[in-house]
Amino acid sequence: MEKQVRLDKYLADSNLGSRSQVKKDIKQGLVKINGQIVKKCEEKIDIKKDRVFYKGSPVSYQKYVYYMFHKPAGVVTATEDKSQKTVMDFFDKKIRKKLFPVGRLDKDTEGLLLITNDGQLAHDLLSPTKHVDKTYYAEISGKVDEGDAEAFLRGLQVDKDFRAKPAKLVIKESGELSKVFISIEEGKFHQIKRMFLAVGKEVVYLKRISMGALSLDDSLDKGEYRPLREEEIKSLKK
Ligand code: URA
Repeated sequence: MEKQVRLDKYLADSNLGSRSQVKKDIKQGLVKINGQIVKKCEEKIDIKKDRVFYKGSPVSYQKYVYYMFHKPAGVVTATEDKSQKTVMDFFDKKIRKKLFPVGRLDKDTEGLLLITNDGQLAHDLLSPTKHVDKTYYAEISGKVDEGDAEAFLRGLQVDKDFRAKPAKLVIKESGELSKVFISIEEGKFHQIKRMFLAVGKEVVYLKRISMGALSLDDSLDKGEYRPLREEEIKSLKK
């Protein structure tokens, strides 16, 4: 992280308003650095040392923010969409700026979605070379059996162009409706649905429950989000 940031950027990054709004506030004398009113938007802030007050309250600067979101079914994983509700519509306008979802869940998939403005972390989590496991709970129409688990573990030929990497399948209940946990390290389009279709079964419910070391917090209802804790951020960056 760079050490010095322009005052207007520092305030806008801290979600205190748009760049043009905070510029106005600075010029109106609403911002103090180390006890002195500063009216120059280009003033450099030393992130570690300087103490900045905005309208009398201390500013806690965060260049990067991380939220755990419990995605409900029925919304698209996108930052904007002309006709459909997106996952970002659940976020407060004030913090929404520059945030994006890491990876994609289908419209009808529920569960854990990481929302951030940290492009590097998003890239690392999605990179095939980093082998980050994503675990899903799934309900399957059809009897899932150990033969399927073995085929998944060997690396399933999903269609003529796509052979999946080995995936771990744990069967909780096997019957007309089977209940399973499945972990994959890739994130190809409709991957889990396509994997089950390739063994003649259909996913009827899908929920992501973890991504790497990060697990969906049980206390989050669908549509709710919370900031990641310090140790959760660290575990993702390992
Ligand atoms: N696999 C799918 O088929 N859908 C998702 O949303 C995620 C993984």
